Order: sequence, then C-alpha cells, then structure tokens
Amino acid sequence: MNLRLVELTKRFFSKHGSILAVNDVNLEIDSGEFFVLLGPSGCGKSTMLNLIAGLEKPTRGEIWFDETLVASASRRVFLPPKERNVAMVFQSYALYPHLTVFENIAFPLRIRRTKEQLIKESVQRVASMLAISELLDRKPAGLSGGQRQRVAIARAIVRKPNIFLLDEPLSNLDAQLRASTRGELKNLQRNLGVTTIYVTHDQIEAMGLGDRIAVLKDGRIVQIGTPDELYENPVNPFVAKFIGSPPMNLFKASINYDKGSFFITVGNKKIKLPDNKAERIMSLKSKDCLIGIRPEHIYINPSGAEETLKGKITSIEPLGKDVLLHISIGENKFTAITPKMRFEEYEIVNVGFDPERIHVFEIQD
Ligand SMILES: Nc1ncnc2c1ncn2[C@@H]1O[C@H](COP(=O)(O)OP(=O)(O)OP(=O)(O)O)[C@@H](O)[C@H]1O
Ligand SMILES: [Mg+2]
Repeated sequence: MNLRLVELTKRFFSKHGSILAVNDVNLEIDSGEFFVLLGPSGCGKSTMLNLIAGLEKPTRGEIWFDETLVASASRRVFLPPKERNVAMVFQSYALYPHLTVFENIAFPLRIRRTKEQLIKESVQRVASMLAISELLDRKPAGLSGGQRQRVAIARAIVRKPNIFLLDEPLSNLDAQLRASTRGELKNLQRNLGVTTIYVTHDQIEAMGLGDRIAVLKDGRIVQIGTPDELYENPVNPFVAKFIGSPPMNLFKASINYDKGSFFITVGNKKIKLPDNKAERIMSLKSKDCLIGIRPEHIYINPSGAEETLKGKITSIEPLGKDVLLHISIGENKFTAITPKMRFEEYEIVNVGFDPERIHVFEIQD
C-alpha cells in the first residue's frame, strides 16, 4: 500500500500554550518500502505514527492510503484505527500479562472473530518466523526483554496489515540483541512485503534498516533520502551531524577566491576546495561558512603528495581495528579515524583532508 501525507500538521493545545508537533509534512511512501523517521527526542516522530494509525486527528492536511482518503481536517474525514488496518508496535510495547504468549499473539484475530483453526495456524506461522514457537505456553513475565519484543512484533504481523508502524521497537534491547533483531526485522519486512514506517532516534538503526530515511527536526522534514544520499550529501549541518558516527567535524571558515579556485584557510595553510563545489560556494550568502569533514575522511601522516597541516593529538580512543584521534589544529578541534598505529598523546602529526569529501554549509542553516 502506498501512503501519502499532504501538508500534515498536528498542533497540541495545553494550559501553557500550543505545540506544533508535526508541521506541514509532505511525504509519499512507496508500496513495500521500509521507510524510517529519524530525529531527536520530541521532534514529532510518535505523533506522526499516531496520525497515520488514526490515534490522533490532524489539525490540518490529509492522509491517503492508495486512493483512499483516511484523514482530512478540512473535509472532515476521519477513519478510525480499525478501518485503516494498520499494525503498530508501540514505543513501550504492552503485552497482556495474564494471557499466554499464544493468546497475546492471537488477540487481534480473536477480536475479529477469526475461526479457531485459522487462529492456530496463523499464530504458529508467525511464532516460527520469529523463533518463539517454544514459548507459546508461557506468560510474558517469564520472558526476557528480547523475547517479549518478538511477541509484540508477532502480534502486530499475525494478520496482514496495510501498513506496519514501528515506534522504536528495539529500544529496550541490549546492543547485541538489537543488532541481530534488526537483521531479522529487515528480512521479515522483505518477506512480508508490507509498507513499513519505522521510528528511531538512532542513526545506525536508521541507516541499517531504511530504504529511505526522513530526518525530522521540530516537527518538520529536514531531508529525505537513501542512507547513502544522506551520508554523501547532507543538506545542512543538522543532518551532517546526525548521520554518521562519530559525527562530522564542523568548523567556521572564510572562503577566498584566487586564480580560478576557491580556498579556505585552516591553521595557517590554504586548502583548495574541489571545483565541483563551486556552484554551492557561489550560492552562499556570505564568504563565511561552515566546513564539514567526516572523521573517516581525514588522513594522518599520509604518504601521498597532498597538502597537510600540523596537528597535535590531544587524546586517543582505541576502536579495535582503528583508532579515534582527537586532534587540535590551531583553534580548531577535529576527530579522525585512522588505522591503528603507534600514536602518542601530544604527538605532532601531519593531517590531510580528502578535498573531495569536504562539505560546505551556510552558517545559519
Ligand atoms: N498528547 C499531547 N499533548 C500535548 N503535547 C504533546 C502530546 N503528545 C506529544 N506532545 C508534544 O509534541 C512534541 C512531539 O512529541 P512526540 O512524542 O511526537 O516526539 P518523538 O519524536 O516521538 O519523541 P521521543 O523520541 O522522545 O519519543 C513534543 O514536544 C511533545 O511534548
Ligand atoms: Mg516517540
């Protein structure tokens, strides 16, 4: 099922005034797509899912499932959740404590008065998909966090929904279980082929799962793209810092023009900016800008002929195969990821930037 949000807006009113939780969002999600909403706490992710599920009414705008209008503020259309046939796994998933795992999963089918034999088959099918077949007789209290999570997912997929809505479903799991469940979830979604919207504030999760990602801030979409597009071409410093780990280095610089090329000055060295950035640079409102370079695109003691700067290592974090170096160059501080070698604190090293990987942003973005 294809999903379309048109000028979708949700304002909450309270004693202390009002909050625009979702602000004029336009979005089209393709049938079968795994779509991720990514953004910091409070940016409106859960509110967007609740609007799609029919748990909240929009203040303005429309929601379409294929050619069906399911919510419109101006046309006074509002289909209740059960008519939308969406399955949701909530941020704090709630299982019924007095029911067995089997009955928890069967619940959505029972309220639809499904035949007993079909219930049995369906529960067994999803339980085996999620490797929880041997837990069906237990109560939730006797399960680990990861097992409960699987039961919540099984309950959501036991009937074929139009859309699958997942609100930070892995946030209660430890790192290892999270990584393995992430892989399974992606396979499961591919096999089911159901349009999925997945909410997270964790960019690693977003990059690993999403066909496309929308980065949200203060109820608005800042950028939509594939994981690679967001990594390669973030539109502003907010996206640049949010995608990639450790975050992109950003520093203020002044751009100068000399003999047909653009330069910035770092420390007391001039660095030439790539010619393919010319258009972007010309569009800047001022020659003062923010320069971005990812830690993995900074080279320490490079052997090639490229220009380097002198930097001082201020601290060293081992990462296994690589090391993360904190380096100061003049006033500016950088992080760099580099293959493991013998480094010492306060050592002076030669620092090279991959010029093709330099990003240029407006300061006020
Ligand atoms: N029922 C409500 N009444 C009033 N304000 C609300 C309500 N629900 C959400 N908000 C506010 O709307 C904004 C968006 O909230 P929302 O829960 O959608 O954020 P979120 O991105 O899911 O955050 P988190 O990552 O912390 O779950 C917040 O400022 C929140 O305080
Ligand atoms: Mg939330």
